[in-house]
Amino acid sequence: MSIQLHIHSSREVAVRCVAREIATLIRNQAHAVLGLATGATPIPLYQELVRLHREENLSFRQVITFNLDEYLGLESTHPETYWNFMHRNFFDHIDIPAASIHLPSSRVAAGDLVAHCIAYEEAIRAAGGIDYQILGIGRTGHIGFNEPGSPIDSITRRVHLDEITRQDAAPAFGGLEHVPTHAITMGCGTILSARKISLMAFGEGKAEIVRKALRDPVTDQVSASFLQDHPSAHFHLDLAAASAL
Ligand code: PGA
Repeated sequence: MSIQLHIHSSREVAVRCVAREIATLIRNQAHAVLGLATGATPIPLYQELVRLHREENLSFRQVITFNLDEYLGLESTHPETYWNFMHRNFFDHIDIPAASIHLPSSRVAAGDLVAHCIAYEEAIRAAGGIDYQILGIGRTGHIGFNEPGSPIDSITRRVHLDEITRQDAAPAFGGLEHVPTHAITMGCGTILSARKISLMAFGEGKAEIVRKALRDPVTDQVSASFLQDHPSAHFHLDLAAASAL
């Protein structure tokens, strides 16, 4: 299968399209399982889902979520933990039960890491697997924090963050020296197990890595290229992100 390409006139149009698909899934299926992403890209998607909740009675009471990743070593009160990001941008504004929200922990002790990661995989399996996975793409081609060299069958694990990824995060942390060096991420294999995947990329800065992921041969140097072999992978792009295709 090849990736299905959706080029939208703007990011607003793109997120409305993805939000509509998610709303349809949630309305048609009890206990829909969503895989969620952080970063700048999905923020307008979460805003649109919050609007659907407020204005069109879209309820998340039966929804279960698993986030892709989390920084390691941050205090739970740190504003840049993905737990805090997700609550601030999404979970605090909808009716999802706290027990249905899953993220890896930013505070897991070294000796508990492997068990924590295996438990995350088990929790996804126990929920029935991910129905709909949202992805962004990093400038390294990462999906989740699967940096270049991540195997196609990798599972949830501790990873070292690429320097480009840390530089991209530096403004939010007030300097590179404050950006964590490690994270826990779902693996490429975990992500590829989702039944449907929508990767969103907006802006000219993503054009070259989007071209590589879509058009170049599949390689572990660009984790997003693994999506070329997924039975239901979709790229939702604005015109600028599609400009190198
Ligand atoms: P961004 O990050 O949405 O902030 O561009 C995407 C990613 O790193 O996956």
